[in-house]
Order: sequence, then structure tokens, then C-alpha cells
Amino acid sequence: MMHYPKPPEENLTTLVEFVLLGFADAPRLRWFLFGLFFAIYMIILLGNGTILIITKVDPNLHTPMYYFLGNFSFLEICYVSTTLPRMLLNLATQRRNISLVACAAQMCFVLILGATECFLLAVMAYDRHVAICQPLHYPLLMNPKVCTQLVTGSWISGIPFQIGQTIQIFSVTFCGSNQINHFFCDIPPILGLACGEILVNEMMVYLGAMLFLFVPFLLILVSYSKIISTILKLPSATSRAKAFSTCSSHLAVVGLFFGSSIITYLRPKSDHSAEMDKVFSLFYTILTPMFNPIIYTLRNKDVILALKKLFCK
Ligand SMILES: *[C@@H]1O[C@H](CO)[C@@H](O)[C@H](O)[C@H]1NC(C)=O
Repeated sequence: MMHYPKPPEENLTTLVEFVLLGFADAPRLRWFLFGLFFAIYMIILLGNGTILIITKVDPNLHTPMYYFLGNFSFLEICYVSTTLPRMLLNLATQRRNISLVACAAQMCFVLILGATECFLLAVMAYDRHVAICQPLHYPLLMNPKVCTQLVTGSWISGIPFQIGQTIQIFSVTFCGSNQINHFFCDIPPILGLACGEILVNEMMVYLGAMLFLFVPFLLILVSYSKIISTILKLPSATSRAKAFSTCSSHLAVVGLFFGSSIITYLRPKSDHSAEMDKVFSLFYTILTPMFNPIIYTLRNKDVILALKKLFCK
């Protein structure tokens, strides 16, 4: 019979739950933060819900661009609903415990929907690239079948990797503290609680960030640099201005989302401070979904027209 050495008992406590501290370090701001985030959540639901409805009901908006935008708004509603309701509940009840399973499920959904968001933003950039640089081929290249495939591909291609990533992260040993100084179960704060070897996990995080953040971001930059060089060759100043205004609003969403998430996931571990992590996460989890409908509707004549039709019937 073989005798295996027993593991040291002291440090190994079996964790069954975490504590999501959220904004516990600012107790006096509790109801202010609750009101603020509740209002933001309502704005996100209303704004993105409105885009979703008008892109479905208005026949003038039955084009690939608005099909992608409608699906993107739907995604934003799903994405923000993985973190914000839980955060509101924590603020209101001050019961901050979260089971390991719930924490893993939250992380998994955030990662999968985050990957979808990156791919959809790349698809939307590609759509504009074809529309502006190859307008004659646009109806052929962006036919309904291709559009559906691009959207479906964006939704499902992140799933296997992100499930694997979540399982890998939750199979590390946690010891000592179970307090997560963050408002949702994101990778950096959870890995911060691990003890023992996490090199494999860190490599996975980098690989994931490369595949789902860096590659789509590069594709978007390539699409937009081609778009901008085409726009600069346009003969009339008004069409140049119109094309520029559409593109700059897309680029604003892209910059906000990719900037903050690349900083979070591609930064070396030694640079992580809990407070900065919280601030950057707010950008990609909550502020992008809020600004998206504002940016797309306030600067877009077609959308404004569709809104008028919807509400002035
Ligand atoms: C967005 O696309 C996905 C994948 O094709 C689909 O499951 C979902 O229902 C779509 N949502 C809307 C609102 O069109």
C-alpha cells in the first residue's frame, strides 16, 4: 500500500463562500450609490430597450447596421444584468456573502458576454468598413444570411474558452481571506485571493485577453483606418462630415470599452490596486452600456426620425 504525504492542515480552509465587499469602504455613501446605480440601470434598460424596439419595428431601420445595433443593445442589457442587480442588492441589504457557485456563474457570464461584446463591436466595424470602402459589394457581402452568421458566431465562439477559464480559476486553492474587494466576481480580485501556483491561470488570462480583446481591437483599428483613408478621399465636404460623425461615435464606444478592459486584464499583477480595478471595471461593465444608446441616438438622424415616429403616432 502506498502512503501519500498528508497536506499541511493549517492554511487550508475549504472556502464555501466569498464576501463581495463592493463599496463597503464608503458606508456613508451607501444610499447615494444605490440611487446612482439604480438610475444608471434604468437608463441602460430604457435606452437599450428603445433601440432594440425601434430597430425591430421601424422598416427604415431594417438594414445590417441596425440589425447589429439592435442585437448589440440586447447584449448590453444581458451584460449589465449579470453585475448591476447583484451590486444593488448588496448595497441595499448589506448582505454581501456570495456562494462559490454563484460567484463562478457570475464570472462565467460576464466573460462570455464580454467576449460577445468584443466580437460584435468588431462585426459592426467590419460592416461600416464594407459599407464605406466597398459600397457596390455591400448588399452582396452583407446579405441576411451572413449577418445572422456573424451575430450567432459572436454569441457562441467565446463560450468554450470562457467556461474552461472559469473552471480553471475556481480550481485554484483559496486560503486565508475570502473577502473580495470588488463589486462583482472578476478575474483579478479572485486570483488575488489564491495561494500557491497560479502561473497557468495567469497565462490563460493573457491568452483570453489576446483572443477576445486584442485581436478584435486590432481588427477594429484596421477597419477604421481604412474607413478614414477612404473618407478623406471623398469629394464633397458634407458626405465627409456625415461619415466622420458616424465613425467617431462608434470609435468612442470602442475606445471606452477596450481601453478599460485591456488595462484590467493585460496589466501585470503587481500593478493591481483594488480601488483602481473597481474604477476601470465600472467603465467596461456599466458606463459603456449606458453611453452606447446615448451616442448612437443623439448623433444619428435615422434613429431620431424613428424615435419621433414611434412616440408621435
Ligand atoms: C441576437 O443574436 C443572438 C444570436 O444569433 C440571438 O440568440 C438573439 O436572440 C438575438 N437577439 C435579438 C434581440 O435579436
